[in-house]
Amino acid sequence: MITEILSPKQTGNHNLKNYEEQYNSYEWDQAEQQFSWHTTGLVNMAYEAIDRHADLGKGSNVALYYSDQNRKENYTFQEMKEFSNKAGNVLRNIGVGKGDRVFIFMPRTPELYFVLLGAIKLGAIVGPLFEAFMEGAVKDRLEDSSAKVIITTPDLIGRVPVDELPDLQKIVLVGSSVEEDAQTVDFYRHFETATTTLEIEWVDREDGMILHYTSGSTGKPKGVLHVHNAMVQHYETAKWVLDLKENDIYWCTADPGWVTGTSYGVFAPWLVGVSNVIRGGRFSPDDWYQTIEDHQVTVWYSAPTAFRMLMGAGNDVFNNYNLSSLRHVLSVGEPLNPEVVRWGMEVMKLRIHDTWWMTETGAQLICNYPSMEIKPGSMGKPIPGVEAAIVDDKGNKLPPNRMGNLAIKKGWPSMMRAIWNRPEKYESYFLSGDWYVSGDSAYMDEDGYFWFQGRVDDVIMTAGERVGPFEIESKLVEHPAVAEAGVIGKPDPVRGEIIKAFISLRDGYAPSEELQEEIRSFVKKGLAAHAAPREMEFKDSLPKTRSGKIMRRVLKAWELDLPTGDLSTMED
Ligand code: WT7
Repeated sequence: MITEILSPKQTGNHNLKNYEEQYNSYEWDQAEQQFSWHTTGLVNMAYEAIDRHADLGKGSNVALYYSDQNRKENYTFQEMKEFSNKAGNVLRNIGVGKGDRVFIFMPRTPELYFVLLGAIKLGAIVGPLFEAFMEGAVKDRLEDSSAKVIITTPDLIGRVPVDELPDLQKIVLVGSSVEEDAQTVDFYRHFETATTTLEIEWVDREDGMILHYTSGSTGKPKGVLHVHNAMVQHYETAKWVLDLKENDIYWCTADPGWVTGTSYGVFAPWLVGVSNVIRGGRFSPDDWYQTIEDHQVTVWYSAPTAFRMLMGAGNDVFNNYNLSSLRHVLSVGEPLNPEVVRWGMEVMKLRIHDTWWMTETGAQLICNYPSMEIKPGSMGKPIPGVEAAIVDDKGNKLPPNRMGNLAIKKGWPSMMRAIWNRPEKYESYFLSGDWYVSGDSAYMDEDGYFWFQGRVDDVIMTAGERVGPFEIESKLVEHPAVAEAGVIGKPDPVRGEIIKAFISLRDGYAPSEELQEEIRSFVKKGLAAHAAPREMEFKDSLPKTRSGKIMRRVLKAWELDLPTGDLSTMED
């Protein structure tokens, strides 16, 4: 097979000039000297990302370009320092301290970033929640982590089942005309009068910082804990992979409810002191192109789904905007189809650089670099300091071109440090103690490029969002008409996968369009809009193992017209 190769731009003056050389010689402690713990032993991510630049003469540089339909505001590093200090003081005054779980459940606004940084300055562990979550999803996460405080808005507070969360002490509402009571705190009232200086809680680099809940194929969503030490990798990948330089204007389109929106929407760009664009509101091709043009974005990090939607909107839309400021474009979240890379070459005259990582890995691990040849369809090569391999189920390395488990040698700086409350779950990620097993299957070619093949488990990636089938199935069977439900990801040209549910109904219910609609909105209201099945099929019964586990593999085979494989465990 002949693989297409896209060469780097000859003129590029890239931060990572020679990948092979750097890969062979790099040790992580080269980066560690950048940070304060090198001299003091203690550190704080928010200080390193914001205050350090303000204190070292870059206070008047723009840190944040924020815009949405109603607001357009810029904040310098000095202002971000002061506003996050104020937010930190508001939180400290209501009792937030080191190690407390503080959830943030609000749309992207400057205030979200003030409270996120402010809470981290106090040494709290922040749990960011995607604003589209509904009550059930919010409750699971706050309950599992015994959250002490939630910061939300008057619009969203209705989805926080306060009475069912005995550990929740305070609710901070960011909005107008908030009525305070013993539990409810009016954010703006206290923010206005809070002082702009704050005593930072200096923590150990191994102390908890952020808790991202993510889905697996079974069980409830799990809390992936990251520590301040992740900054080492955020910092290095901001240089090597995002290729950020002093005057760049960077835009990561992800919401901070997901790990991309924190690791690469907050930490990485600010650790290297560049201007960060945040666009609130919903996706639309015109809006996104306009954002790039308005801010003269130079480095852009987005997802295959978004690129496919932009591609689908047509080149005429693209041609209405001037995107000539763009220098470097990256993608994450799902396989980046070669077709999309070709579209990027055609319209932007730029390569789209695929990057591979996960919530659990905390930062990029396998990437395409600006200075490197790209094979469209490949995720690239491991970053310096990281060993990646394809291993069999026992942890033995497989030779090139053999498909197996994509695994990473344990110990990279941004690796998760725990699954909240579930040590056995955490351990289950590691094979023979040494290899972190990703749950993705892939192969490595003879040149060391990695090629994604699929998820080993049943996790669904829809429009870049990771959803566990079990969570949706559990919600579906709560509906009075549903007896059993099995959920799979069905391949979709735009969204990567869409959610399809197979449902058997209880006696007395018959399939109908109305019932489908009702079930769909039941999941939307109970979990989140993106978790609702786009397609539903009613069946008299579902394929199950003798132990009663629904066999999603069989559902998938039905759907795709594939052989169903070994059915020995299936009940009659
Ligand atoms: C899963 C992790 C942290 C990134 C956002 C998603 C899939 C991620 C790629 C890629 C093919 C990819 C994998 C992975 N994935 N990047 N470049 N090519 N697949 O984080 O929600 O934790 O999902 O996303 O299947 O396991 P996540």
